[in-house]
Amino acid sequence: MSGRMRHFVQKSMLCTLVTITLISLAKFLYSYFFLPFSPSTSLIILILFTTFYLFKSTISNRGHADATTLIPPPGPLSIPIFGNWLQVGNDLNHRLLAAMSQEYGPIFLLKLGSKNLAVVSDPELANQVLHTQGVEFGSRPRNVVFDIFTGNGQDMVFTIYGDHWRKMRRIMTLPFFTNKVVHHYSDMWEEEMDLVVGDLKSNEIKVMIRTSGIVIRKGLQLMLYNIMYRMMFDSKFESQEDPFFIEATKFNSERSRLAQSFEYNYGDFIPLLRPFLKGYLNKCRDLQGRRLAFFNNNYVEKRRKIMAANGENHKSSCAIDHIIDAQMKGEISEENVIYIVENINVAAIETTLWSMEWAIAELVNNPRVQSKIRQEISTVLKDQLVTESNLHELPYLQATVKETLRLHTPIPLLVPHMNLKEEKLGGYTIPKESKVVVNAWWLANNPSWWKNPEEFRPERFLEEECATDAVAGGKVDFRYLPFGVGRRSCPGIILAVTNFRTCHCKIGIKF
Ligand code: HEM
Repeated sequence: MSGRMRHFVQKSMLCTLVTITLISLAKFLYSYFFLPFSPSTSLIILILFTTFYLFKSTISNRGHADATTLIPPPGPLSIPIFGNWLQVGNDLNHRLLAAMSQEYGPIFLLKLGSKNLAVVSDPELANQVLHTQGVEFGSRPRNVVFDIFTGNGQDMVFTIYGDHWRKMRRIMTLPFFTNKVVHHYSDMWEEEMDLVVGDLKSNEIKVMIRTSGIVIRKGLQLMLYNIMYRMMFDSKFESQEDPFFIEATKFNSERSRLAQSFEYNYGDFIPLLRPFLKGYLNKCRDLQGRRLAFFNNNYVEKRRKIMAANGENHKSSCAIDHIIDAQMKGEISEENVIYIVENINVAAIETTLWSMEWAIAELVNNPRVQSKIRQEISTVLKDQLVTESNLHELPYLQATVKETLRLHTPIPLLVPHMNLKEEKLGGYTIPKESKVVVNAWWLANNPSWWKNPEEFRPERFLEEECATDAVAGGKVDFRYLPFGVGRRSCPGIILAVTNFRTCHCKIGIKF
């Protein structure tokens, strides 16, 4: 059935449903409240209403310049006010959306109350969203909660595509996202990783591993916080019990919980209900106020003081010095500085932590892969230590990292994209300001494109998939996008991958 025909049938079914409901309602009201017209008059009114609804939508579609091209993507039948929300529920995760794509196709549209969600599950369409139509789909959707956590888009990650985003991304690149930065900090990273390995080697931990098992999340989390805070502020946490570490992790996890909760969907999807969100939004404002003050008072202000004390002779020794410099030159505001800190806290730490945890879990469950990594290290590196500079000599290790990111894509739907204006995609019309998600997990786990995708098999990246890599530009395989691709792709890719490989090697081989 063509998209237009399907749309018409869906609308007719919907009108029938609405008519039946309203007839019953009219009968009920008539018998209880003595309305001034009979049920049959109500019926005529309802039929007129239904006809008007169908007619109106046809007219409004025709009202656009090019009627042949105004076809909405397929999707389940939606009802007024709620759209598809009641059918699909709150938890629109990558697996559910992958299952829906098998029913509705590589692009489909869900209406969540007043909002549109377009889901893309095909490499060619992903190419269009992220690359060929990267400008048109290069903005990010926000809602009332994200407006609070980003100061209405004063940050970089959740701002619309335009001059502000370009400036922020340029300013962040020099201190965070270049190969030079990776080389500059590699000794520091290795030092932090060796501390975790040292802990794991301690007799006490060895006994625990043998008897009750251990949770290494906290150790890895401290390591990643230290790596990022040393890069950002030249400052580190003493231990997992350090009150600043406890506070920073609490603030960040509470921010993630409040931003990603389903609790506020009703006010987000149905604007009429927004006044009922007041309490929730106050909670978000309160947290964000305290959280930004924590970053500012304990880190940013300290760097400002050091810079001021050194005066002209100050040499930037960490990322925030460069960012403050840009602010002093008038390129960005004080708020922008603090939102850069906020973005790094959100984007850089947990993503890398999830990947490391999955990698270690896969090594624990796959002794064969573990022993192949050990063998590669001892054959290639002999007595040398594993460092950032010799990682490229270890192809099996690199394949293991790729396989982890494929099977356990840390951000399975990427960060949502948005089109500011009505756009065409795959022959369909995407309404303006739709949230557009690319199901990167499904692209990398669809059995039509991958051999036994559910299997953890790093060898695939040395055999049938040897040409596939996660890249931010150049020749892209649109089935494999753990870091996205194009304008809004992850700028932290070099940092994350190097960090991840080194850590994987150092910690992974201890199990
Ligand atoms: C394993 C680790 C990581 C993964 C899997 C990952 C993945 C991603 C993905 C999927 C996106 C969105 C791409 C899109 O929307 O098309 C993204 C955006 C972003 N990532 Fe990462 N990331 C990781 C680590 C990092 C690190 C370490 C940093 C910083 C040091 C970072 C900074 C960012 C920023 C700033 C953005 C927003 C870019 C923009 O909107 O222009 N990420 N990341």
